[in-house]
Amino acid sequence: MTSILILLSICQTPRPDILVADFEAADYGSWTVSGNAFGKGPARGTLPGQMQVEGFLGKGLVNSFLGGDDATGKLVSPLFKVERPHLNFLIGGGNNPEKLALRVILDGKVIASATGPNSQSGGSERLSWNSLDLSNHLGKEVRIEIVDEAKGGWGHINIDQITFSDKPRGEVTAQRILAAGRFLHLPVKTGAPVRRLKVLDQATGKTLADMDIELCPEKETPSFWTFADLGKRQSQGDVRLEARLDREDKALEKILGTETGPGRKDWFAESVRPLVHFTAPRGWLNDPNGLVFDGINYHLFYQHNPYGWNWGNMHWGHATSPDLFKWTDQPEALSPKAYGDWAFSGSAVLDRNNTSGWGKEGKPPLVLAYTSTGRGECVAYSNDSGITWTEYERNPVVKHNGRDPRLVWHAPTKKWIMAVYDETKGQAIHFHSSPDLKHWTFESEIKNFYECPDLVRFPDPADPQKELWVLYGADGLYLVGDFDGKKFTPKGPKQRLWHGNFYAAQTFTNLPNNRVVQIGWGQGITFPGAAFNQQMTIPVELTLVSGPTGPRLQALPVEEIKGQVRTTNTFRNLRAQGGDLSVAPLSTGAQLIDITWKSTGGVSGFRVPGLEIKHDSRAGKLFVNKTGLDVPKEGEITLKIVLDRGSAEVFLGKGEQALSIARDPRLGEGNLTLIPFDRMMEVVGLSVSELVPARKPLFKDTP
Ligand code: FRU
Repeated sequence: MTSILILLSICQTPRPDILVADFEAADYGSWTVSGNAFGKGPARGTLPGQMQVEGFLGKGLVNSFLGGDDATGKLVSPLFKVERPHLNFLIGGGNNPEKLALRVILDGKVIASATGPNSQSGGSERLSWNSLDLSNHLGKEVRIEIVDEAKGGWGHINIDQITFSDKPRGEVTAQRILAAGRFLHLPVKTGAPVRRLKVLDQATGKTLADMDIELCPEKETPSFWTFADLGKRQSQGDVRLEARLDREDKALEKILGTETGPGRKDWFAESVRPLVHFTAPRGWLNDPNGLVFDGINYHLFYQHNPYGWNWGNMHWGHATSPDLFKWTDQPEALSPKAYGDWAFSGSAVLDRNNTSGWGKEGKPPLVLAYTSTGRGECVAYSNDSGITWTEYERNPVVKHNGRDPRLVWHAPTKKWIMAVYDETKGQAIHFHSSPDLKHWTFESEIKNFYECPDLVRFPDPADPQKELWVLYGADGLYLVGDFDGKKFTPKGPKQRLWHGNFYAAQTFTNLPNNRVVQIGWGQGITFPGAAFNQQMTIPVELTLVSGPTGPRLQALPVEEIKGQVRTTNTFRNLRAQGGDLSVAPLSTGAQLIDITWKSTGGVSGFRVPGLEIKHDSRAGKLFVNKTGLDVPKEGEITLKIVLDRGSAEVFLGKGEQALSIARDPRLGEGNLTLIPFDRMMEVVGLSVSELVPARKPLFKDTP
C-alpha cells in the first residue's frame, strides 16, 4: 500500500518544463520568418508607436507591430516532439482567431490555436499566460506557427516563453461565495493585470457590480484598498465573486465583506491629501459633472473610478456642501447600467417650474443629463435633493455621435437648452431645445469645439440690462456672443482665461443673483502612492468685464474660501536687495497668499516650496515655474495664490489670467522667499493665510 502511494505521488510530481523558445537571441534561430511584421529577430519590448508592452519574460519577445498594425507576416518553427501534455506561452495583442494566432500544426493540419485578448480600441499590451492541450498528441512531431494577417486596429500579436509542461498555465474563472453587507473591500495593486470582477447577489443572481480592477494578486501587497458600495439589496447575505485569474492566483480570497475595512483607514488624513481642493475619497476622478445649487446645498458630481487609481469604470461620484468647501461625500449618484455602459459627463439643473412633471408634493425635482456610452444622452431626476436618481423610462433622449450634455434654462424662449459635443462631422457643439427636458429638438451647431461644453449667461458689462452668453470648451477656450435659444452668434475670437492643469470646467446652475461659479478638473495633478488620483480646481467666481478688445472673463477664488482661513500673517513694505530674503514660514498644509510688488525693471519674484514665480519686465512675462503668462512690463504685480498639497493656483490682478499648476504633494515645510534677482524688490503688501481642511467622509473609518 505504502509503495503504491509513493509511486502515485512520484507520478503526480510534474516533470521539469521543456522550453521551446524564449526569444532572447538576436535572431529567430531555426524558425523561418516571412512578411515584414516580425522583423529579422525578436523585438526588445515595445516598438515605436505602440502602447507599453508588459508581462513578457527576459528582454525579447515576438511582437508583430514592427511597421505598425498593417504589417503582416508569419513565423514557423522547426518540428518539435510533443513531450508534455500542455503547451504554455505568454500571449498579447489583437483578438482575431482567423488572422492573429499561435497555431500548432500536425501533418499540415491545425490541431490547436490561440489568439490575443484585445478586440476593441483601448485595451492593454500586457501579455498573459495561455495554454493549449496537446495530451492527445503526445510523442507526435508538430510545428508552431505565429501568424499575423490582420491590418488596422489591434492588427498585431505578441508571444513569448513557449514551453511544454505537465501543468497548464493561464487564466481560469475563479469564484468565491462570501457573506457581505453593504460593502465589499477590494485590494488594488496598481500595475497588476486588469481583471474583470463581477459581484452577484447569490440569492437573486442579480449583478451588483461589474468592473475592471487591478486586483492585487494573492501573494502581493496591495497598493491600496478601495470598496464597492453594494447599496440596498433584497438579501444582505451571500454574494458571488467571479473573475478570470491566473490558475494559481487566489486573489478573490483577499476580498472582505465586512462593514468597515482597510480602505477607509486614515481617510482624509493621508500626508499627501490636498486640504482645500476636492479629491475623490479613493480612486480616480476627472470632469466635474452636474454642478447645481439646490437652494441649500451645492452639489459636485464627478467622473469617478471607485476601483482604481487610473481612469475607468465611469460612475458619477457625489459630494454636497453648504459653502463650496465643506464637502460631505455622498454615495455614487450614477453607476454604470451594465459593464461597458459607462456614465460619462453631463450636467444638472433644478426644474423650478416642474416642466418635466417629475416634481413631488410641490417640490421641484433636480434633473441631470449624462452620456450613457451604451445608449446616448440620458436624463434622470431626483426627489431627495440629489441622493438617489431615477432614470427616465424613455432614455436616451438624444441619440447621436457625441457626449457631455450641458443643460441650461433659456428664459426668453422658456425652453431648456442642451449644448452637447457632437463629432458626426468634425468637432462641434450642437444645441437642442426642449420644453420639458424629455423631448428635444435639434436647433443648430457651432464648429471647432471639443467636448464638455459649458453655456453660461452673464449680464452684458456694457449694459447690465442686456445679456451675453459664453460658450466654453473643455480646453478652456471660450467665445462671448449672443444666444437666442437656437443659435450662438460669436462677438469676437476665442479667448483664454485658464492655463495649465485645467480641463473640462463647468459652472453651477441655479445660483442666485447672476452669480457664476466655476470648477475645473485639475487634469494631470497626481498623487503617487495614494488611494486617490487627480483633483478639482478651487471654485472661482467668474465675471464678464469689458476688456480692450471686447468683453472677457475674469476669475478669482470664491469669497467662501475665507471660511477656511485659520490665521493670517500680514507684512508691509518689505524690501529685498542683493540677495534672497525669507519672509514667511510655510507649513506642509494649504495657504492663501496675496502679494503685490513693484516691478521696476529686471527680474523679480519669489519662491515657495515647489514653485518659483518671477516677473521678467523686459519680456513682459510672468513665469510660474516654466509656464509664461503675458503681463505688462512695468508697474505693480498683484497675485492671489492658493497653495495646497499637489497644486497651486495663481490668479493675476483682478483675475485677468488664472493658472493651475501641479506641485509634488510630498513637499516638506518651507518659506516664502523673495528673490530680487538683479534688482531691488519692494513688496507693497503680503499676507499669508493658513487654510484648514473641511472634508466629511460619508462612511465611518475603521474603528
Ligand atoms: C473629458 C471626457 C468627456 C467624457 C469623460 C469621460 O475629460 O473625455 O468627454 O464624458 O471625460 O470620463
